[in-house]
Amino acid sequence: MADRKPGAPCRAILTGATGGIGRAIAWELAGRTDWMILVGRNIVALHALQEKIGKSKAHVIAGDLTQEGTLATIDRLARQLGGANLLVNNAGSGDFHDFETQDAGAIRNLLDTNLLAPMLLTRRLLPLLKEADTAQIINIGSLFGNLGYPGFAAYGASKAGLRGFTQALRRELADTGITVRHFIPRATRTAINSEAVVALNRALKTAEDTPEHVARQFVQFLDGSAWETTVGAKEAFFKFINQMLPALPDKAIAGQLSVIRKHMPK
Ligand SMILES: NC(=O)c1ccc[n+]([C@@H]2O[C@H](COP(=O)([O-])OP(=O)(O)OC[C@H]3O[C@@H](n4cnc5c(N)ncnc54)[C@H](OP(=O)(O)O)[C@@H]3O)[C@@H](O)[C@H]2O)c1
Repeated sequence: MADRKPGAPCRAILTGATGGIGRAIAWELAGRTDWMILVGRNIVALHALQEKIGKSKAHVIAGDLTQEGTLATIDRLARQLGGANLLVNNAGSGDFHDFETQDAGAIRNLLDTNLLAPMLLTRRLLPLLKEADTAQIINIGSLFGNLGYPGFAAYGASKAGLRGFTQALRRELADTGITVRHFIPRATRTAINSEAVVALNRALKTAEDTPEHVARQFVQFLDGSAWETTVGAKEAFFKFINQMLPALPDKAIAGQLSVIRKHMPK
């Protein structure tokens, strides 16, 4: 793993471990870690994962990451286990919706879960991560955090914020042993995507990955040194074009708008 001395133990904290991508990442990480702290809200799913990986390796915490108490519990357990050197902020939620009528509570929840929770968990764990010789923080973003897309204004804002946080903190910690990186999945078959999103992806023939594929890409990223990667060559190209020539995606997405509106909850 990049930024780790050969033979040094890998001690990982993974949020969203009960979800599609998180479960697959936990499984991929299982063979490479001394132990993991797996965080989610669904205690039944956490225990099933713990059984599969092994109790000596997988420690579980059931809790809501928007609650300060959950962050304190993660910190306490990581300290009891002797310190961590990998934090993967993967938990997230989605809400594909017309922005004008989107519920204010739903917008707050997106920002709390996808942006504030990883920021505050990172802040709380920084002193512990600094105790390791080297450590990594990997934030799981989204293509829509880099490429604004109709129906995902609030979700995209939360993920764009996470990207900005990742880049700034990476630079702030450049003189420490901690690297901060950004991994960007494209559409993946998991529960985060509502029926409306699934139908939209089908209508637009959007490429969709399995969580297992994303997890394999994740461990390749973990072993590399790039600060950011996007799953899918076409998506990486769209992201680049959006940055350099935003009028081109403006036009292409305008051409999709009637189909998007047909599926977008109002
Ligand atoms: N699937 C995609 O198409 C896609 C594309 C790009 C990026 N992503 C990103 O990939 C990450 C993983 O998503 P996924 O596709 O695996 O979705 P998922 O299957 O719905 O999993 C989401 C995970 O986040 C956890 N979570 C949500 N809110 C939480 C909260 N308040 N406190 C604690 N845990 C919470 C869930 O826990 P419980 O289930 O236990 O409640 C679950 O483990 C997210 O950050 C997502 O934005 C996904």
